[in-house]
Amino acid sequence: MILEAKEIFKRYSGVNKELTVLDNISFHVKKGEILSIVGPSGSGKTTLLGLCAGLDNPSSGVLNLAGEPISQMTENEKAELRNRKVGFIFQNFQLLPTLTALENVMIPLELQGRAEGAKDKAMALLERVGLGGRHHHYPSQLSGGEQQRVSLARAFSNDPEILFADEPTGNLDEETGLIVENLLFELNKEKQTTLVIVTHDLELANKTDRIIKLKGGKIISDQILHSSSQA
Ligand SMILES: Nc1ncnc2c1ncn2[C@@H]1O[C@H](COP(=O)(O)OP(=O)(O)OP(=O)(O)O)[C@@H](O)[C@H]1O
Ligand SMILES: [Mg+2]
Repeated sequence: MILEAKEIFKRYSGVNKELTVLDNISFHVKKGEILSIVGPSGSGKTTLLGLCAGLDNPSSGVLNLAGEPISQMTENEKAELRNRKVGFIFQNFQLLPTLTALENVMIPLELQGRAEGAKDKAMALLERVGLGGRHHHYPSQLSGGEQQRVSLARAFSNDPEILFADEPTGNLDEETGLIVENLLFELNKEKQTTLVIVTHDLELANKTDRIIKLKGGKIISDQILHSSSQA
């Protein structure tokens, strides 16, 4: 199991009452699996993804990522684990505006202390997403779809064991969406990268191995479409 969530709750204190955004979530993800998480706006998808990736802490419950108990780790330990094993594609890209496309893709490699060869590797990834000629451009000089593809290249640059993608095709036209989708699936095949994809796109969800549906912070269904082989 690359990811285990046990009885996860996430609560926010509101003005009058507490808001329970995630309400007793438990699930396991196998190595190499492609899982999609679907559900209406506000159902807790982004919150759940952030917790699983160690970007945020649950109010209660246990999370194990790549065999390590992230719900018990310090911020530094979690950051170190993320640098080594986790890729993340944010709903709003989160590229650093003062860095070029190439420099953005190099960040995870530099954080890993792999500065040597980082430039070549980042260039190869940018070429892979069709942006080789745009490596010197800043995010503000790129379209939304191009920024999304830079964020995909960045997410893969540290060869993550598990990649979390929040609406990776949400802001893209159909054609560019398919390019991003195919890249995700190809990289999963080549490197056995586990993928956890939040999406509103049911066509995309239907191509994954398994669909978890969230509603009101609860899992309302967990459906296996294709069985992935590994444990
Ligand atoms: N910091 C916060 N304080 C209070 N409430 C929050 C906070 N962050 C998120 N929420 C609430 O948690 C709920 C779930 O938010 P989340 O972003 O996980 O939804 P989502 O399923 O990703 O929605 P969308 O499809 O619109 O992206 C929402 O009702 C949101 O308002
Ligand atoms: Mg969201």
